[in-house]
Amino acid sequence: MRAAGDTIALVTTPNAENFRTIWLKPDDPAIVQIIDQTRLPHEFVVQDLRNYRDGARAITEMLVRGAPLIGATAAWSLYLAALEGSNTRDPAGFVTRAAAELGETRPTAINLRWALDRVLGVIRESGKNPDLVSLLRREAQAICDEDVEICRNIGVHGCGLIEEMSRKKSGAAVNVLTHCNAGALATINWGTATAPVYAARQKGINVHVWVDETRPRNQGSQLTCWELARNEVPHTLIVDNAGGHLMQKGQVDLCITGTDRTTRSGDVANKIGTYLKALAAKDNGIPFFVALPSTTIDWTIRDGLTEIPIEERDAREVSHVRGKHGNEVLDVNTVAEGSAISNYAFDVTPARLISGLITERGICKATEDDLARLFPDLAGRVS
Ligand code: MRU
Repeated sequence: MRAAGDTIALVTTPNAENFRTIWLKPDDPAIVQIIDQTRLPHEFVVQDLRNYRDGARAITEMLVRGAPLIGATAAWSLYLAALEGSNTRDPAGFVTRAAAELGETRPTAINLRWALDRVLGVIRESGKNPDLVSLLRREAQAICDEDVEICRNIGVHGCGLIEEMSRKKSGAAVNVLTHCNAGALATINWGTATAPVYAARQKGINVHVWVDETRPRNQGSQLTCWELARNEVPHTLIVDNAGGHLMQKGQVDLCITGTDRTTRSGDVANKIGTYLKALAAKDNGIPFFVALPSTTIDWTIRDGLTEIPIEERDAREVSHVRGKHGNEVLDVNTVAEGSAISNYAFDVTPARLISGLITERGICKATEDDLARLFPDLAGRVS
């Protein structure tokens, strides 16, 4: 779906068409469409999801990725399951089984569980013989629309930090360092870590982004650079190991990252390497903020290090690098034969290293008390 209804559409293709990251095909509501993020930045390809298994595959193989978008894809996949299940004797059972399969696709991002639980809850509360297809279509659409609004508000609150820094620097460029892609592509629109940057740009604030390459899958160079370029945000790509050096040289004013799961005490799981950036920021007295929708908070756990499951992915993501050679997109092997490879996809940054959490309701300290004060309605639901 073109993002005509959004105040600003951040996923913009080279020919200037504006997209969200997931939508119902306008002329065929039996198909959900996504941007295939494994093909960016070299090709802009829209893929059809025709059943919930397509949705599950899109999440596992990372055609869609980023915590909020994973959740939204799961919700749309349950709508596809409702369509398929409407021909069976137990449509609700069919959807519930689909939810169990979808729940296994990626372990770290809590938005997946959150979206599945929300949709299953709607089914439970819908009484006898509900029109599941209409119900789940409405719910998936609502999850997407809400996410756009949430991210827009994260932008409004986070922009204040950039504005303050800009004043301190008398209008000189504010240098923001980010890791992975917590951008429009990881959400439905706006992004989380990028939302304050986009908001600052809209206000005419002089802002520049250091983009970590983010090995092994290079979400920084392949996705964040792509969307920042499309939206004319000044940015510079750096290798993952350069952040500490830039901080020591006074070239980073602020770090903002996203998160896949935040505990109720403010520990943050995010793309592997985030922890090292937080350590370097602490050592250099640089504010380290994490931007998140409340849908990424796991209120059931307190200790990130022991309680957040960390995804391990295929060794091939480490041994091979994707790039364009001439007109061909290729995966090339960069590793000596016979070496063992480990590929942890996320790490945990303890709350003590985090200057603050930028949420849709405002900025708070990464502590249990502050999070509960900002979200009494959500924190109160679990003891
Ligand atoms: O493995 P990915 O690409 O799904 O990891 C994404 C991230 O780590 C993002 O920073 C996180 O999901 C926040 S998205 C707003």
